[in-house]
Amino acid sequence: MTKVLPADAAGIREAAATLAAGGLVAFPTETVYGLGGDALSTAAVARIFAAKGRPAEDPLIVHLADLADLPRVTGALSPQAALLAGRLWPGPLTLVLPRGPAVPHSVTAGRETVAVRLPAHPVARALIAAAGTPVAAPSANRFGHTSPTSAAHVLADLGGRIDLVLDGGPATIGVESTVLDLSGPVPTLLRPGGVSLETLRELLGEVALGGRAAEAGGQIAPGLLDRHYAPESALHLCVGAPAACRGWIRAQAARQIAAGRRVGLLVPDEDAALLAGLAADIEPLGPAGDPAAIAGRLYAALRALDARRPDVILARDIGDVGIARAILDRLTRAAAGRVSILTPSERRATQ
Ligand code: TXA
Ligand code: MG
Repeated sequence: MTKVLPADAAGIREAAATLAAGGLVAFPTETVYGLGGDALSTAAVARIFAAKGRPAEDPLIVHLADLADLPRVTGALSPQAALLAGRLWPGPLTLVLPRGPAVPHSVTAGRETVAVRLPAHPVARALIAAAGTPVAAPSANRFGHTSPTSAAHVLADLGGRIDLVLDGGPATIGVESTVLDLSGPVPTLLRPGGVSLETLRELLGEVALGGRAAEAGGQIAPGLLDRHYAPESALHLCVGAPAACRGWIRAQAARQIAAGRRVGLLVPDEDAALLAGLAADIEPLGPAGDPAAIAGRLYAALRALDARRPDVILARDIGDVGIARAILDRLTRAAAGRVSILTPSERRATQ
């Protein structure tokens, strides 16, 4: 049985005691809900991997309540790490740093680096502080599913598999933290997220694009894409100028509907209005000019649409500036290679 508690003082106390005893607690952060366990306990870490069905080679992020706890998981900060920690923590930024000796190899999937984040959410901070230990927490979804932005999403995926869910209401940012690797000679963006690439470049100068961040919105190589954030329905993504992608969506939808398929549209409000004449199931994401609002609704909208089981979901990008880059990354992953690029992928302002 998975207990659900409100994220008040009593709930946080019980959740902290559960963590300290080696149990698993899902809790709200400002990005998405995390599935927490004691990061320094190999048994708790093993339970996290088992509950999610996550492969052991995918390392976990270690969450701290306070900068003073850093020495428990890593060595002295480099000047770049100290600069970012001072300016952007607590917040939606994960730094990949040298692994401290107390961090189990299972947390880092055998690497000599550890991913560290100080979340800004008051419930997350209070919980980690009360647990008295660093907390390893991947997103609280079954492996390969969409990340949860509410307690209900967590229960849908992990109900019966974890001890407790702290219900702190909807997550506000809605997409996961930015992952920045500071362990090499050049800071490298591994996952775009709540802190923008532009902000990182302003503070650090050069920031390279690595891993998945090099693919999304750049030269997309379908064979390299994993199946993260995958909806049950096949999602097709259009990347290009808004008007061109709207035309593409209209044509694709009409063709699919004519073939007797049920079509879902995951589109900005403006498109929803323009495409309202189609016999499609439309899930409006918010105004195209407000990428933060779209990020906040993205996963809930994807889950809602997916639950109605359309045969195909059509979506488009809203540029690659700021948090729109994270949205593009998640949609690209959800599309698992089904991406139509209508314009060269030059840098575009959000429209
Ligand atoms: O916003 C978030 O980051 C959420 C909340 C709960 O904090 N957590 C989250 O965790 O998204 P997860 O496990 O779903 O994603 C962690 C990402 C993965 O892409 C993983 O490969 C990467 O961080 N990562 C973790 N440790 C790493 C390391 N040592 N080196 C490189 N990448 C690492
Ligand atoms: Mg995840």
